[in-house]
Amino acid sequence: MFFSQYIRSIFGLVTAIMLTFTCVLIAGAGTARAESSIERGKSLVRQHCSRCHVIPGLNPYGGIGSTPSFSAMKWLDDWRRRFEIFYILPPHPALVRIDGVSDPRNKSLPAFSSEIVMSLEDLDDILNFVDTIKPPQ
Ligand code: HEC
Repeated sequence: MFFSQYIRSIFGLVTAIMLTFTCVLIAGAGTARAESSIERGKSLVRQHCSRCHVIPGLNPYGGIGSTPSFSAMKWLDDWRRRFEIFYILPPHPALVRIDGVSDPRNKSLPAFSSEIVMSLEDLDDILNFVDTIKPPQ
């Protein structure tokens, strides 16, 4: 009698430890995934956007003068919306194509630079990275 109670409580303890461990693992994997999305977003931005935009931590003295910096855009309440649809806002339609979303670039458009092709997942990663940028103080 006493012994079986003892076994049961050990069993309960082991189950509790295993459950805790599983939760920690799942939470850890979620964080790692979020972090790698931010890293991917950062490298996409370095590759495709830093030519024109100033991005904090990437090219403080780069970019093209008249192009809004990413941190300045974080001042705007609707920055997220703007980044979600930036590829339809000028001048980007001439540069960027989102796979499965945008129409193929019209052959009559001047090919003054090579086309940037990205996926919707890339857009998500960029959004996650821009989310970490603070507006200038
Ligand atoms: C060839 C230069 C160039 C490149 C490359 C470029 N942009 Fe831009 N972007 C601009 C200019 C110029 C503006 C300002 C347009 C205006 O004032 O109407 C702008 C504006 C924006 C805006 C604000 C749009 C609005 O009208 O509110 C966002 C968001 C943006 N860019 C995101 C991006 C992202 C993300 C990338 C990289 C994937 C990128 N841009 C690459 C030139 C560029």
